[in-house]
Amino acid sequence: MKISVIGLGYVGLTQAVCLADLGYEVIGVDINKERIESIINKKPPIYEKGLKKILDRVVSRNLSITSNLKKAILDSDISFICVGTPSKKQGSMSLHQLEHVSKEIGMYLKLKKYHTVVIKSTVVAGTCEENVIPILEKESKKKFPKDFGVLMNPEFLREGEAIEDFFNPDRIVIGSSDKRSLQTLRKLYSNFKCPILSTSFKEAEMIKYASNAFLATKISFINEIGNICKRFNIDTNVVAEGIGLDHRICPYFLRSGIGFGGSCFPKDVNAIIYKATELGYNPRLLRAVLDVNRDQPLKLLEILEKKGLRHRKIGVLGLTFKAGTDDIRESPALNTIKELLMEEAELYIYDPKAMDKVKRIFPHLNYLGSGQEVVNNSEIVLILTEWPEFKDLDYGDKLVIDGKNVFNSKIPKNYEGICW
Ligand code: UDX
Repeated sequence: MKISVIGLGYVGLTQAVCLADLGYEVIGVDINKERIESIINKKPPIYEKGLKKILDRVVSRNLSITSNLKKAILDSDISFICVGTPSKKQGSMSLHQLEHVSKEIGMYLKLKKYHTVVIKSTVVAGTCEENVIPILEKESKKKFPKDFGVLMNPEFLREGEAIEDFFNPDRIVIGSSDKRSLQTLRKLYSNFKCPILSTSFKEAEMIKYASNAFLATKISFINEIGNICKRFNIDTNVVAEGIGLDHRICPYFLRSGIGFGGSCFPKDVNAIIYKATELGYNPRLLRAVLDVNRDQPLKLLEILEKKGLRHRKIGVLGLTFKAGTDDIRESPALNTIKELLMEEAELYIYDPKAMDKVKRIFPHLNYLGSGQEVVNNSEIVLILTEWPEFKDLDYGDKLVIDGKNVFNSKIPKNYEGICW
């Protein structure tokens, strides 16, 4: 079975290299020339644990990279579409890239006997049946499922752990009404030791949103409890441990802090709120999840305010939305910086992976070469990403306000946690 993967962002690149590592012939397709160059030269275009090693193994062996979508479709039996579905202004989801790629694939389907198209991009319920399949049918003048297959196969990869998650998923979800292509994909995943759930298109699309909405809710829940605990002088971490031991609750995603960011949770919760509202339902709980999350980084500033320290020399440690990635999309750190700049604070900044990206947004701040330099130059230090190296700095007597729960031992002398 020859595979093409269209869109080599976090999801597509992981899908392409991991399938190639399993021994399949894979063609990766992207329109970004710089990205293509970088992958061909075995240089990961993103920071992702383990990616470089796999690239070294598979590039020029059984992974080829191209911008030629036509050739990729003609030379493969099955295509994974992994293009982005970014948020539009009001929170709805942009289908522009997905529709554009579907149109092109539709044209090339004309030239083929049979082909299977798998959607991995995150899309709201109804998109496969109401957008993708009609476009493919119109452009190819062929009929689903007789002449080509379509499946919805959502991804659940965590950035920083994407390769581990690819090879050891909790479950694989495949949505379709088409038995033939369902068998093809089941065969492709047959060596995975996890449940494979077959559903309708819409159910598969919704499972992805419901998963992310639930995890985001869990985080806002523990942050809300954390904000209450802080007023009682209770350590939320102990409370989280106590409730997490209940198997119905489970210990994961109960780390309180400055809230969730990244490319998925904020975008997906917004998209489901938008769609539900459009359908006449007011999703109050999900709106509250975003409300709590929006205000959570401000809790750090409230601590500064209470201590009368807002205008001091402030050190910022960490810029990415979590450790293990260079991704700054929707990072709570960036909102914190904006707020501090409005207060005219003097900022000293360090992150091991994302400084260049942030320099493009805030070019005039003081970016330093290490966490220790930041500590040395500031009066107060804010920890905004849980990079392990921040545990080992010498903070001396400086006040450290921790938004990410980075210390389990060796807590600095002058320390305050956001919810503990
Ligand atoms: C998430 C989902 O986990 C993944 O299944 C989906 O495919 C994409 O979105 P990712 O965005 O990579 O993955 O990050 P994740 O590890 O889930 O963390 C998301 C955010 O929540 C981060 O900002 C993280 O710091 C925060 N978080 C996570 C908490 O604040 N507390 C927690 O207990 C867990």
